[in-house]
Amino acid sequence: MKALILSGGKGTRLRPLTYTGAKQLVPVANKPILWYGIEAIVAAGITDIGIIISPETGEEIKLKTGDGKLFGAHITYILQDQPLGLAHAVKIAQPFLGDSPFIMYLGDNLIEDDLKPFFAAFKEQNLDALILLRKVSNPSAFGVAKVDEQGRVLQLVEKPKVPPSNLALVGVYFFSTAIHHAIASIQPSARGELEITDAIQALINFQKPVEALQLRGWWLDTGKKDDLLEANRIILDTSLEIDLQGEIDSNSQIIGRVEIAAGSKIINSTIRGPVIIGKDCHLENCFIGPYTSIADGVKLIETDLEHSVILQYAQVSGVHQRIVDSVVGQRAKLEATVRRPKALRFLIGDDSQVELG
Ligand code: TTP
Repeated sequence: MKALILSGGKGTRLRPLTYTGAKQLVPVANKPILWYGIEAIVAAGITDIGIIISPETGEEIKLKTGDGKLFGAHITYILQDQPLGLAHAVKIAQPFLGDSPFIMYLGDNLIEDDLKPFFAAFKEQNLDALILLRKVSNPSAFGVAKVDEQGRVLQLVEKPKVPPSNLALVGVYFFSTAIHHAIASIQPSARGELEITDAIQALINFQKPVEALQLRGWWLDTGKKDDLLEANRIILDTSLEIDLQGEIDSNSQIIGRVEIAAGSKIINSTIRGPVIIGKDCHLENCFIGPYTSIADGVKLIETDLEHSVILQYAQVSGVHQRIVDSVVGQRAKLEATVRRPKALRFLIGDDSQVELG
């Protein structure tokens, strides 16, 4: 069994962050989203992993993630010249996949469920495809499945106007080698992509066994800002342990579950967990509220912030209004010179500068 993680794509929905960086490397609780997927795959016992990368962000992903040793795995990087669809990614990965069945995992997805029971069901039932589904309130925004009582998949439709069910396809799939033949039989869709839903539909049409199982836990597609913040909230809520390193002065108050990494300085500030603060940060006269992740090298002066994600080396100063539900990109600078009431909401890209005067 091998794994194929899709980490190319355009990332249009998370712009402007993704103009300069890979969306799969945006951190959730200070760890790249992609790494959660790798860890889940390795935990299911699969260590031969291929990662699809794009020319724009591939080098950054390789540099950060390495050859797999960090995870006890072996990683092969596969370049996809253009984001021509999920099934296209499988097509170009064929030399890597060979005659092995595989799990396909979208690199910007996060799921709570353990993959092992799904992997076991796939093997035991000798399936050609096992897809994972999750009930959603807005199925028209997803690939949607129509399933019979036994869990057999009858029909798949990509972003349907009239959805046949409220069961969306989660970005995790198990395939036998039969998928390659199915992909060879399909044509690009109206949006010019080779769709994996069309390939799975082809398997169904060829009378191959295609089944679905529903996730029990949460599923987040972090390609969107609100899902990214929600993923950050859930991971901080469920996995954060107290660990206070760095220097915390006697005028500061640390309440609840807070992790502060080495080299960070906390001066005259209140931090109310769950909050994670990376290495070499400087926080002075700040209030940091729950569900906030602050990456390495961030500088915050006189800042009031909660339920937000601040990326590496960003700087915020003098913003006395509470910043909420915000994502601040790497090296971005946000500086206020006057006090104003009301909350502020931002999605600020890498290298941006915002001045509130
Ligand atoms: P999507 O989020 O569906 O596509 P996208 O990355 O182009 O994003 P957006 O809709 O914001 O423009 O892709 C899901 C995952 O699959 C994501 O990690 C990117 C990856 N992907 C590829 O590796 N190759 C592809 O051809 C496509 C379409 C996506």
